[in-house]
Amino acid sequence: MSIEIKTAQDIEKMRIAGRLAAEVLDFITPHVKAGVTTGRLDKLCHDYMVDVQGTIPAPLDYAPPGHRPYPKSICTSVNHQVSHGVPGDKVLKHGDIVNIDITVIKDGYHGDTSRMFTAGEPSIQARRLCDVTYECLWKGIAQVRPGANLGDIGHAVQRHAESHGFSVVREFCGHGIGRRFHEEPQVLHYGRPGQGIALQAGMIFTIEPMINAGRRDIRSLADGWTIVTADHSLSAQWEHTILVTPEGFEVLTLSAGAPAVPAFVESDRTASVAP
Ligand code: MF3
Ligand code: CO
Ligand code: CO
Repeated sequence: MSIEIKTAQDIEKMRIAGRLAAEVLDFITPHVKAGVTTGRLDKLCHDYMVDVQGTIPAPLDYAPPGHRPYPKSICTSVNHQVSHGVPGDKVLKHGDIVNIDITVIKDGYHGDTSRMFTAGEPSIQARRLCDVTYECLWKGIAQVRPGANLGDIGHAVQRHAESHGFSVVREFCGHGIGRRFHEEPQVLHYGRPGQGIALQAGMIFTIEPMINAGRRDIRSLADGWTIVTADHSLSAQWEHTILVTPEGFEVLTLSAGAPAVPAFVESDRTASVAP
């Protein structure tokens, strides 16, 4: 019932796991194009993790309470799929948007990160949803420092999404992570400033906003995993694993191919530590 404060040794291992998870996304990037199946992306990532990295794909056979074991090694959520899309025969078409979510285990520690990809040129609305959701992730990250509250993160994400006319999925959240895939705390992507627990250096958790172009309501598919928007509007998600440092934050899931940090992050960070 409590949030683990990671030791220096834990943190060193989490840096490695985080970088490796991000590098799977770098690896798969050139393969994400029209004509490929999500099942093929899963197979390519699985083999890269196991044979090249020597990592374990954490989703494979993952079975939290109330769920059947997850059957694949990655999650691929296409268009109106919000999260936990199960790879299979679905062929990516020109204009599709897809979230690829990678969680690796290395030396007993988890690294968890996801990005949005596009097959060919997406619609203007789809592009905007992906870009704003990426900004939402970083609006949340910029709040992270000792003494900040979880509600500060949720509020920053929600405010940015809603200011663009988008909605925040409420049923899923970021999570503590370490030797276990999902640990305390729950990191909501909505909330009020000053509410929720106060952050301490040494905490590690994900921020992973799911943002819908339409209404926030979701449904689960009969496969027991895939989450879709109830109104079939497009949905986007990005995820990083974050360490709370004495100075603020360290993003553990960066790699050579990670998109640039938005310019507002430095000024938001400075503003959040001002009295
Ligand atoms: N990687 C997802 C997360 O960010 C969890 C996927 S669970 C799975 O928390 F079983 F669907 F893989
Ligand atoms: Co996660
Ligand atoms: Co994830």
